[in-house]
Amino acid sequence: MKILAIETSCDETAAAIIEDGRRVLSTIVKSQIEIHRETGGVVPEVAAREHMKKIIPVIDCALREAQLTHNDIDAIAVTQCPGLVSALLVGTTTATVLSRVYNKPLIPVNHIAGHLYSAYLENTHELTFPRLILTVSGGHNDIILMRDHFDFTILGQTIDDAAGEAFDKAARLMGLGYPGGPAIQRCAQSGRAGKEQLPRPMIHDDTLNMSFSGLKTAVYYRLNNLLDEYNNHLPEEIIADLALEFQTAVVDVLTAKMKQALMRHPDIQEIHLVGGVSANTALRASLQHLAESKKIALHYPQHIRYCTDNAAMIGAAAYFQYQKWPDRYSVETHCDVSPNMTLTEYTG
Ligand code: KG4
Ligand code: ZN
Repeated sequence: MKILAIETSCDETAAAIIEDGRRVLSTIVKSQIEIHRETGGVVPEVAAREHMKKIIPVIDCALREAQLTHNDIDAIAVTQCPGLVSALLVGTTTATVLSRVYNKPLIPVNHIAGHLYSAYLENTHELTFPRLILTVSGGHNDIILMRDHFDFTILGQTIDDAAGEAFDKAARLMGLGYPGGPAIQRCAQSGRAGKEQLPRPMIHDDTLNMSFSGLKTAVYYRLNNLLDEYNNHLPEEIIADLALEFQTAVVDVLTAKMKQALMRHPDIQEIHLVGGVSANTALRASLQHLAESKKIALHYPQHIRYCTDNAAMIGAAAYFQYQKWPDRYSVETHCDVSPNMTLTEYTG
């Protein structure tokens, strides 16, 4: 089954063609990062206008790269929630029109469900249930138990900032640029372990919830002290020490929470790590160590391009959603935008 998938929930205009939930025939992502860098964040109206300009060329490009035409497509999938209303509307309207014009079933998809299915893309391993999934990106930070396809239980989430958001804010404070995750990871490579000390918020708390906003504040105060100490001229190696300590603190908290979750659910068969922050090599190494100690497998997206926002993951989720509820989707499907709908409210 070949699905044309469309994603416009935030600042990436993306289209992909996915076969049977795993094979990526093409994936195109047009980022708006340069435009939003000027305003220091995403302005929803600006994002929507950019999606309007790019969506048709991006879909054309995905079809061309896959060497297919709309006749070869079996269904159309689109991100319905959560996200920016005006941005989502561009994708859902385009997908609805294409579905009606080409007479293909329309499959609305939850963006987080998309991330949860990103580990299937180009993965040749058999993936099993129950699985524990850590979703960490700029906007999401959840520990999710999946007992079957589209059977989600949120075990824990951040009570304030998501880990990716904390990476971005801490990087900005350290003058390392945007996006902060890759910048901190790069800078941390030359950092000396143990030179700096930051807190591990909520690490001993007996829930599976997390908090990263205090960590960013701790970076702010530490930087102010260091700036005083070095007369406002911070040597690069000091920033590297702080970047490494920040990354280690985030990884320590995420790993400790996943360890606790595994202890509470000893029947877990495997761990998945998804979302933009799953690109982080220190986090991958730490969860690999945890998985090995429990003799279970760790899976993360096969390429960095499937960690950050993309349409391929929407096509993967749509395939499994369609397998589960084939009668729900048709050319008549109404795709209402629900900007704040959570994963557990979402029932395909
Ligand atoms: O999934 P994503 O593209 O967008 C959201 O849905 O939020 O994730 C983007 C986030 C950004 O906060 C970025 O700093 C973070 O993922 N990120 C990383 C790395 N690469 C991207 N964080 C840590 N280490 C990385 N290597
Ligand atoms: Zn995302």
